[in-house]
Amino acid sequence: LEPNKINVAGHLTIGGVDATELAHQYGTPLIAYDVAAIRQQFRRFNKVFEENQVEYEVSYASKAFATVGMFQVVAQEKGHIDVVSGGELYTAIKAGFPMDKISFHGNNKSRAELEMAVEHQIGVVIVDNFHEIELLSEILEQKKQTMNVMIRITPGISAHTHKYDQTGQEDSKFGFDIQSGQAEEALKQILTNPRMTMIGIHTHIGSQIFEVEGFVMAANKLVDLAADWHDKFDLDTQVLNVGGGFGIRYTKEDDPIAPEKFVDAIIKAVQKRVGQRDLKMPAIWIEPGRSIVGPAGYSLYTIGSRKDVPGLLPYVTVDGGMGDNIRPALYQADYEAVLANRASDKNEETVRIAGKYCESGDILIQKQALPKSQPGDTLAILATGAYGYSMASNYNRNPRPAVVFVENGQSKLVVKRESYEDLVRLDQDFI
Ligand code: LLP
Repeated sequence: LEPNKINVAGHLTIGGVDATELAHQYGTPLIAYDVAAIRQQFRRFNKVFEENQVEYEVSYASKAFATVGMFQVVAQEKGHIDVVSGGELYTAIKAGFPMDKISFHGNNKSRAELEMAVEHQIGVVIVDNFHEIELLSEILEQKKQTMNVMIRITPGISAHTHKYDQTGQEDSKFGFDIQSGQAEEALKQILTNPRMTMIGIHTHIGSQIFEVEGFVMAANKLVDLAADWHDKFDLDTQVLNVGGGFGIRYTKEDDPIAPEKFVDAIIKAVQKRVGQRDLKMPAIWIEPGRSIVGPAGYSLYTIGSRKDVPGLLPYVTVDGGMGDNIRPALYQADYEAVLANRASDKNEETVRIAGKYCESGDILIQKQALPKSQPGDTLAILATGAYGYSMASNYNRNPRPAVVFVENGQSKLVVKRESYEDLVRLDQDFI
């Protein structure tokens, strides 16, 4: 935690606002985003591309956090959005996001979802499988429309990360295999379809990655494929999309390289290979999700009960848990917390931070140094901006938290807290 995030009262601040005030004003659990930190990530990525004079698109992987307010920030930053469902696309429509700056991913897009994409004339559909090419072709024919497409390939690269977060290895449910000729067959189908325009090749190797090697390998694969297809089909591939996955710091143990280092390595790799293969330099697209919103998010909770277990770390329990952040339970993900109302108190004990859900696995942090806390204190878990709210559930019929955006000392509610009424809104009487 940077010292400049603690105010004279010794409280944590977020976007220039005292975190305890946010907790008081909006209630807890609360997800608060430092909007300047979101903008900064976009600008860091943009800068690397611009310094290297490469055409690019930073396509925010909205699965990390997809809400109307977030999409409006992306629009302000001139970003692009990657959606993976009709729901994410609908959110973008509601946000007034420019449709030509949307790409659509997914390994089983439904007919209805593809129709929606075509009706709204989104920028590009990233096709994943033969069934999808057939569906899309039927829809385009029916609606007498055209669509840009990219082909997603499986690069055969295993990223060093949790196995649920690996997507690039050969045995993956995503994309067309290159070796067996699937990717080339997909290309032929697209090239012979007058309603589809082939604009690029996509690959994504995984998430929360800490090394550049995998990205360099992926970049080389993409260039080689573009070069092979140029030789064979006289095709100029306009875009190489290397996906997302840039790792972020969750705890002191994490030592990720700067996001711009990933991008710089990717650009250099593409430039070098393009030179070797005598290709025209394509545009490079990236799809960061976690690295855009993760570090900018804070989960604020109110501390309640405590249980001391002889010889073991005490449980300090908060008013949220696996319903607003499933990542510790699902991926054994680590986080760090601070006591927001005594952020510089060094008189610490070591505790476990437990959630309120009826599961023993609902432990948000297994080992946390914390000033001795009392019921009513505000706990802030850091770097929860990605895959926290977006994976939230109503388990135990707990309402999902509110979300606020904070910038320049001002806070704005961007997602209301769910009410009990919301929880039963879709329920129907049986008798
Ligand atoms: N592009 C594609 C095609 C993806 O599948 C993903 C993430 C991304 C981009 C963005 O990756 P990022 O930059 O956020 O790492 N729920 C898991 C992460 C799942 C990632 C799925 N795909 C977690 O909480 O760790």
